[in-house]
Amino acid sequence: MFKFLFSTIGQKIQIAISGLLFSIFLMFHLFNNLVMYTGADNFNSMVSFLKSIHIIIRILEFGLLAIILIHVVNAIITTIKNRKANNGKYAVPANPPTASLNSKTMIWSGSIVLLFLIFHLRYYWYTFQNLSKDANFYEYMSIKKFGFLGHGPTQIFYIIAIFLIAMHLRHGFMSVFKTLGISQSIRSNILKFIAFIFWGIIPAGFIIIVLSIRWGFI
Ligand code: HEM
Repeated sequence: MFKFLFSTIGQKIQIAISGLLFSIFLMFHLFNNLVMYTGADNFNSMVSFLKSIHIIIRILEFGLLAIILIHVVNAIITTIKNRKANNGKYAVPANPPTASLNSKTMIWSGSIVLLFLIFHLRYYWYTFQNLSKDANFYEYMSIKKFGFLGHGPTQIFYIIAIFLIAMHLRHGFMSVFKTLGISQSIRSNILKFIAFIFWGIIPAGFIIIVLSIRWGFI
């Protein structure tokens, strides 16, 4: 079992499952953020409720951290393995130019996504940690300060980063389908649509939120 987990295919499966779990988190995260459209009171009550069950939230956050670490560590190890295999060991490199240009860019788009996440947690998660249960959280969503969504350059950074997240997720879903050999089957249309919800609709939802803040709808 242990040996399988750290084999190339085992690591691919670890990357796929952790990526899928993070995508499911993103769906719930979008739902939470959409509450902003229903007004400040609802949004504030929701965040305040989440703060009142902070022990459960902490456990979920640790789970999320584990998911991110599993994804990132396995992605780095797999990339290093591929690079080593390319060092003249085989006549056909493990990551041939024809295979997919995207798979090479995955580590780069993934790194930018990780930087975005660190930035996002620093300004939003950390700020919310330090606010009391009855603070005006809604106000912080459009505050005109570096790191927050009322700040023009921060909005642009978010839009670019979320677009890259979409591309990263798209390629992630497509490679899982390839690994499982289901890209040509009839079922693939349903699966492709589900994948599209995750890589297309959910990131678009986040971008619409940023634009709504920019144009004053929120
Ligand atoms: C319009 C875009 C987004 C907004 C307005 C937003 C808002 C927030 C806020 C307010 C928090 C703090 C929640 C709290 O501590 O109670 C938070 C946390 C978090 N966000 Fe976002 N977020 C956005 C996009 C994203 C994206 C694209 C990702 C993933 C790449 C992400 C990942 C996270 C994570 C991992 C946390 C910490 C977990 C948590 O406490 O819920 N967010 N976000």
